Amino acid sequence: MISQKSVKEILETAKIQDIVEEFVNLKRAGVNLKGCCPFHNEKTPSFVVSPAKNIFKCFGCGKGGSPVQFLMEHETLSFPEALRYLAKKYNIELEETETTQEHIEARQLQDSLYLVNQFALEFYQEQLFQTDIGKSVGLSYFKQRGFREETIKKFGLGFAPNTKDKLTSTAINKGYNIDLLRKLALTTKYDSDFFRNRVIFTIHNMTGKVIAFAGRILDKNAKGPKYINSPETEVYHKSKVLYGIYFAKQQIRKKDECILVEGYTDTISLHQAGIENVVASSGTSLTIGQINLIKRYTPNIKILYDGDAAGIKAALRGLDLVLEQDMNVKVVLLPDGEDPDSYLQKVGSTAFSEYIDKEAKDFILFKTNLLLEDAANDPIKKVKVTQEIINSIARIPDPLKRAVFIQKCSQLTEIEENVLVESVNKQVVLLVRKRREEYKREQRQKERTARQNNAQTNNSGNFPTNAPPPSADPSFPDAPPPEGGELPPEELGVQPNIAATGAEIQERDIIRILINLGHNIYDKEDNLSVAEYLLANIEDVLDDFENKEYEAIAKHYAEQLLQNHKPNLHYFLNHSNQSFSQIALDLSASPYEYSPNWEEMHKVLLQTQKMPELNFIKDSEDALLRFKLRKIEKMMATNLQKGKTAQDEGDFDKTMVHLKIQAKLKAMHSEISTQLGTVVLKYDK
Ligand code: GTP
Ligand code: MN
Repeated sequence: MISQKSVKEILETAKIQDIVEEFVNLKRAGVNLKGCCPFHNEKTPSFVVSPAKNIFKCFGCGKGGSPVQFLMEHETLSFPEALRYLAKKYNIELEETETTQEHIEARQLQDSLYLVNQFALEFYQEQLFQTDIGKSVGLSYFKQRGFREETIKKFGLGFAPNTKDKLTSTAINKGYNIDLLRKLALTTKYDSDFFRNRVIFTIHNMTGKVIAFAGRILDKNAKGPKYINSPETEVYHKSKVLYGIYFAKQQIRKKDECILVEGYTDTISLHQAGIENVVASSGTSLTIGQINLIKRYTPNIKILYDGDAAGIKAALRGLDLVLEQDMNVKVVLLPDGEDPDSYLQKVGSTAFSEYIDKEAKDFILFKTNLLLEDAANDPIKKVKVTQEIINSIARIPDPLKRAVFIQKCSQLTEIEENVLVESVNKQVVLLVRKRREEYKREQRQKERTARQNNAQTNNSGNFPTNAPPPSADPSFPDAPPPEGGELPPEELGVQPNIAATGAEIQERDIIRILINLGHNIYDKEDNLSVAEYLLANIEDVLDDFENKEYEAIAKHYAEQLLQNHKPNLHYFLNHSNQSFSQIALDLSASPYEYSPNWEEMHKVLLQTQKMPELNFIKDSEDALLRFKLRKIEKMMATNLQKGKTAQDEGDFDKTMVHLKIQAKLKAMHSEISTQLGTVVLKYDK
């Protein structure tokens, strides 16, 4: 951890204009500075920097904040990363506290690994630009491929000579540690260089640090694979890296779209031609980690496939993963025999851009067409194809999007829409159930481990104490009995690592309804959703949840609503925040809500357009009342305590005020209790 003293020093030193000017062209405008916003696309500047207030603010997209916030947003850094960036910039010595020796050593190791990689990059560049063989073999190859010198430098292209250990020995002569070279696999266990007689592609992480290399063979007749890559190392985790992301991230955000290609050279070519929102998967199918990298910047992804890609159907199957992440996927099939690089070189950037815009097809429709062509007039094949399409659609978290696809696929397959709806819904339920079972299995495993650990602790003589339930507050005689009892016991047992105090049960109820039913219509006339109704009613206590995980969900939901998003169960089940997805799983599996015929119920809920009058409206209202009741009780307890203190201090006026407040709260409490009285019975049976 960075010490408070250092944090303060950094925050006081960092000047907003210094930081922003590194990334944005600013012009004076009175006391302020102005420029084009780096967070959205604009031609007339609405991005303002105020040196006096030390903040930035965009009047176009609304983003604004401190120097640290600018860095966090613009460079996608965490808070400590942003602080380190600033400390380095301003030469502030960082004081680290409460860090274990292990932590410090791990970071020092990482830093030195980056340093060694940086050295290697410079070495490969020097070989390329300054040695005869590098120039005649490597540089001429890149130039013949159409790469300009500035591009070669920007992307860190280089050359590894055909010598046993030129890199290794140069590094050691300069004082670099052989262990680090081995850790990065730049040096093999026989102390020779890993990359030999290849042109080099440098792989950067999100923040521009050099994490790995790839080497392409030049001699067509030589044995060995066309490309070799650094293996996994402590700084290179392949499943979380996209080639080119560092150079592409700004444009991905601005264009609100990420173009995905397969190859290193494709990425570089497109960049050079001014199409900069491009990254490469480096020949493998996309991983969740890679999708999440893209998702930080945009939900829209356009995948370019080579015209002759033999494995295109297999590749399409892999894309279901992307759908599950609520990404919008388009695919472009390039003309026969072309990859993005070759086609771009052939037709030029304007025609290329036009082509990929025109040819982009929605993934599911593309897949449907492709598979149907294949099935032709074979009815058995067609059934199989339809099932595969249904599987894809079911993975889309947004029910409205699902509905649109069902409609289009119904036209293409000539299968009736309601038949498709039925099948997709069934598939959705199966998917949820599968996740639920996986979760339960994990949970059981956790419990088993916990029990084993407990057994060990008990053996050592530490018996757990039986603490009184936290909601039974003896210092507050007027409080009604805790309400935990009204829920079936299995409700309390679902999430064993969350202590379910009385208030938390009410909060969980709210969150359960938000997640499962929030997107439903509460009031048709006002087009008000259940979530809007609930959140509007608890707005004043949004910072006041007992359970901070639930609070985070409620707040997140509120933010989503502000952006006109309507999250639903699938959104949360698939959320990258693990706490969110776990809670969603937990609450979607609630027997209290769905039994006895959970599946049937769920099916109905999924047909959002034809929503009948269901219990969830009553359910929401009751949950809200119980939630409010709990908050009032909390206020009563606090108020009473204040009253007592005032009385003890002999402050008569103050005591009276608190007594009056207490009476008001009590009246509210009994009114809500009466309203609830009729409905509590419902849950008692
Ligand atoms: P050029 O042939 O130079 O145009 O490269 P390319 O990037 O177009 O190559 P290709 O289309 O053959 O392959 C696409 C991507 O798959 C490459 O950029 C690599 O990331 C990966 N790839 C291709 N061949 C190999 C290989 O032999 N080994 C490994 N590890 N990856 C490869
Ligand atoms: Mn190529």
